Amino acid sequence: METDKKMQTQVELTDSDLSEQIKAVTKDSHVRAENTELMLAYQRGNVSLTQYKLLLCSLYEIYQALEEALDNNSNHPSVAPIYFPLELARLESVERDLEHFYGQDWREKIVVPAATKIYAHRLRQIGKDNPEYLVAHAYTRYLGDLSGGQVLGRITQKSLGLKGGEGLSFFSFPGVSSPNLFKQLYRSRMNSIELEEEERKGMLEEAVRAFELNIQVFDDLQKMVSVTETESELMHTTTRNRCTRHSS
Ligand code: HEM
Repeated sequence: METDKKMQTQVELTDSDLSEQIKAVTKDSHVRAENTELMLAYQRGNVSLTQYKLLLCSLYEIYQALEEALDNNSNHPSVAPIYFPLELARLESVERDLEHFYGQDWREKIVVPAATKIYAHRLRQIGKDNPEYLVAHAYTRYLGDLSGGQVLGRITQKSLGLKGGEGLSFFSFPGVSSPNLFKQLYRSRMNSIELEEEERKGMLEEAVRAFELNIQVFDDLQKMVSVTETESELMHTTTRNRCTRHSS
């Protein structure tokens, strides 16, 4: 009986932790994110160069907006506990990868699909109006990058035959020696944030929205991949036909 009571208290305590609540409330969204075409391609182990390059373009926009908003609000009481720029910041690593694939003038070459613009806009907006919601966005991206993201890095390397980590900086976190321990620290920092009930509710809703925005980005990107790949197939066919005509 006493044990039952103790267990109940523990469960209740755990249930009130933001890290547990956010994980529970985004569980279905995580499954949906895993089942987008892009993530399924990853799970099948065959991501294409077009897919990866477009993903990097989107990640550039997303991390630029997210990290600018985090930097601007680094002293905000909800943001300060989860502000880890040295360990987590991704913008410079994405830039390195973009330069690897697109060359030095990558800034003129990258493409930003509409859904990515919407996501970046939302990040900038909450950076101004509701900085506490940045926790939901930072959680969604950074803890994802430190979890499944690590597997995605290995798959990208294998699928594209990339040597010596070139073009793969995004997946590497030199400032984090143990992703699992770091995730534990991150969760405990999240749990230390004091939130009014309304703020907590808003934060959980924002986390679901953060996943949704990512899903839209992946879907949008996949549509561009189809167009790009169809175009390049058409070009190949036309070139082949031309060659055939020439040779006959
Ligand atoms: C956690 C796999 C895509 C966000 C995890 C974990 C795995 C995983 C194995 C660890 C679960 C745990 O420690 O209990 C995958 C796979 C994916 C994928 C295989 C796709 C191929 C995504 C995407 C996002 C995301 C697209 C968001 C944009 C997260 C977050 C966590 C997580 C935030 C931390 C959950 C927590 O501990 O609270 N994922 N994931 N994942 N993933 Fe994913």
